[in-house]
Amino acid sequence: MRDFSPGRVFLIGAGPGDPELMTLKAARLLQSADVVVHDRLVSDGIMAMIPDGVRLIDVGKMAGHHKLAQDKINTLLVELALAGHRVVRLKGGDPLIFGRGSEEAEVLRAAGIPVEYVPGITAAQGAAAATGVPLTHRGLATGVRYVTGHRAKDAGLDLDWASLASEDTTLVVYMGAANIAEIAFQLMRHGLPAGMPVLAVSGATTPQEERILSTLGSVAADVATRAPEAPVLFMIGRVVELYPEIALADALACEGAGMAAYA
Ligand SMILES: C[S@@+](CC[C@H](N)C(=O)[O-])C[C@H]1O[C@@H](n2cnc3c(N)ncnc32)[C@H](O)[C@@H]1O
Repeated sequence: MRDFSPGRVFLIGAGPGDPELMTLKAARLLQSADVVVHDRLVSDGIMAMIPDGVRLIDVGKMAGHHKLAQDKINTLLVELALAGHRVVRLKGGDPLIFGRGSEEAEVLRAAGIPVEYVPGITAAQGAAAATGVPLTHRGLATGVRYVTGHRAKDAGLDLDWASLASEDTTLVVYMGAANIAEIAFQLMRHGLPAGMPVLAVSGATTPQEERILSTLGSVAADVATRAPEAPVLFMIGRVVELYPEIALADALACEGAGMAAYA
């Protein structure tokens, strides 16, 4: 393969989980890698696409304790490339959305190593397609924001709540399960109604996918009760009104009331 010369690193997004949601380019490059350095979020189905004989290095992180610290991952990638390997750095979702892909690329480039990105479908897009809840919708959301709900140890969430609490923008919170009570509280404190719908999606696009339909006022309690498996993301906003269960309930309510809503 011409574009995968030895000593090169491809930072590849594996998408949200379903192997068919990976790009053709990513699938092709996986076939010619010597080494794949991968995260915990890369699904089993995608790992199964890697040919036998390719060296696999799991640097996956578990919440709270990193299996391999980020600087060690950077060093590992540099060493593998300098040793003349064709290296795939495989990440869940997109490498440039909460993926530290650009941090790794900086270190590689500083070491004189050619590095390229291959985009992946980010979890928000995977969850939107899987659940039928759009990220934008005329009349409901004029834009979408992706934020991290993760906080560094002992630090508060560093988010601009006043600008995030917008009824016209969909908010997608990555890495927010541990802090969802604070996130919901702050959004309501800054003006969003307690009834604003929220859809928590775990394992979007995988066979383990689960959904919790809730509201800002109830989401913390619902997540505590249902304890969804990681990874979880939250879609917050009026677009969640289009979640098929709500749409169906609305339609039935209209029918029940004898309204000619769909006449
Ligand atoms: C470190 S971030 C990585 C995001 C990734 N680079 C992307 O573009 O999707 C990890 C967070 O992504 C979200 N996530 C990733 N895959 C997911 C999935 N299949 N379903 C739900 N959330 C997911 C969760 O919020 C998780 O805590």
